[in-house]
Amino acid sequence: MTEDLINKKDIYFPKYLGSNDNLIKLLNRATQILCDWFSKADKYGPLPFDENFKCTLPEEDGNSTEDLFSEIQSLLNNSFNPVHPGSLAHLDPPPLIFSILGDLIAAGLNNNLLAYELSPSVTLLEESLCKWFAMKIGFNDSSGGIAASGGTLSNLNALIAARHNSGLGSDPNSALLVSEDAHSSFIKCTRIMGLDEANLIRIKTDNNGCMDIQNLRKTIDKCFIDNKKIFAIVATLGTTVKGAIDPIRDISEICKERNIWFHIDGSIGGIFALTSIPIKGLNNVNMANSITINPQKIIGITKTSSLLLVSNMRSLENTFSTGLPYISSKENIINRGEMGIQGSRPAEIIKLWLGLRFLGLKGIEEILKSSIERKNFFIKNMSKNKFEIHSGPLHIVSFLPKELKPKEAEYWTQMKVNELKNNYFMLSRPKFKGKYYLRVVMGNYNTNESHIEELLKFLDAY
Ligand SMILES: Cc1ncc(COP(=O)(O)O)c(C=O)c1O
Repeated sequence: MTEDLINKKDIYFPKYLGSNDNLIKLLNRATQILCDWFSKADKYGPLPFDENFKCTLPEEDGNSTEDLFSEIQSLLNNSFNPVHPGSLAHLDPPPLIFSILGDLIAAGLNNNLLAYELSPSVTLLEESLCKWFAMKIGFNDSSGGIAASGGTLSNLNALIAARHNSGLGSDPNSALLVSEDAHSSFIKCTRIMGLDEANLIRIKTDNNGCMDIQNLRKTIDKCFIDNKKIFAIVATLGTTVKGAIDPIRDISEICKERNIWFHIDGSIGGIFALTSIPIKGLNNVNMANSITINPQKIIGITKTSSLLLVSNMRSLENTFSTGLPYISSKENIINRGEMGIQGSRPAEIIKLWLGLRFLGLKGIEEILKSSIERKNFFIKNMSKNKFEIHSGPLHIVSFLPKELKPKEAEYWTQMKVNELKNNYFMLSRPKFKGKYYLRVVMGNYNTNESHIEELLKFLDAY
């Protein structure tokens, strides 16, 4: 379709009359380009294959559809391709097809989760789906949740609610306890909350990367002496480098004893709580006041997709509601812009809803189970004599040849990452406690045992 065939102004916005044939043609063309790009992964691997992307900027006159389609093509060619089976670096699996459709519908709807009047069906959908998640993980009827754009924001929503509900307000002595292996975004949360970084207190981990309970108890006592007022303790359900799970039951008991808000960062592992897959240490999540679940990270709901579930929805309303003077309200419905940090928000819930409706509980379980099976196959076939291997009960493995000193580890991991890239495998290289490791994240459903065998050969791991 070229400009000479259509009047440009005809494709500014969807038409409210007629059948929108021009829009349908444009969507078909975009879909074709996207699908071709998916299948190019077979030839080019997970990394960008054409580095000539030019970042063109808006000009005086708008550009033609032809220009734009060729720029879209160039953008794709210069993008990371998560559908390739060698894409094993991060918590970024291939996109679930029904989630892609959900994103398309959400974009077209252009509804706004700020308020019920701007998103009636989607408001109800988000409320119901969050409640469904909350009940599934064992919360009671006063529970619920709110979507946010990513795990960091869900955790931040929880921490702000925790501090507000503890009555500490902006007390500069308020403190947050996390394990030393907790995600780096907690530093960001502390800064955003106006706290000194010294008030983000790190609890030691054991050899498996799990929070050390003795150290937690000692630290709490020390906080008392130092006049630090703890507003939340965070357990990580799936740490970023080792996939470890902090001792949820013990931490929840301590929080209960001391009347401290218990938050679980389940950005990686929280979704396993929907299934009956036996995961060591995954229990008692319903003892938490709040939990982050981030389905973009493992089952392929397209980014971003993250939920904060809370045992008591009132805690969110108390914290975030300001009254939206320019928005109408409806009886018994709380505008969802009043329950979290974000105001205007897209209907991200649609892609989660469609993805989960399509998969069903069995499909979710199958995808999650397959990630654990791939991880187990990888570890089973790795020489335990050659490698030190760090892996909790989830689908993440960090490893390094035994006895490498930090400088040697830096060199080896860099060399391997480059060598693997040339062979269409993308692994990550986290720096953990002063030393580099290679990390493989087995969340890619397109990766099968023969791909893993090939990877092991490149790693010289048998
Ligand atoms: C355990 C954990 N928590 C939180 C986050 C932050 O999530 P996001 O990048 O979606 O904000 C991550 C990211 O990898 C993570 O691994």
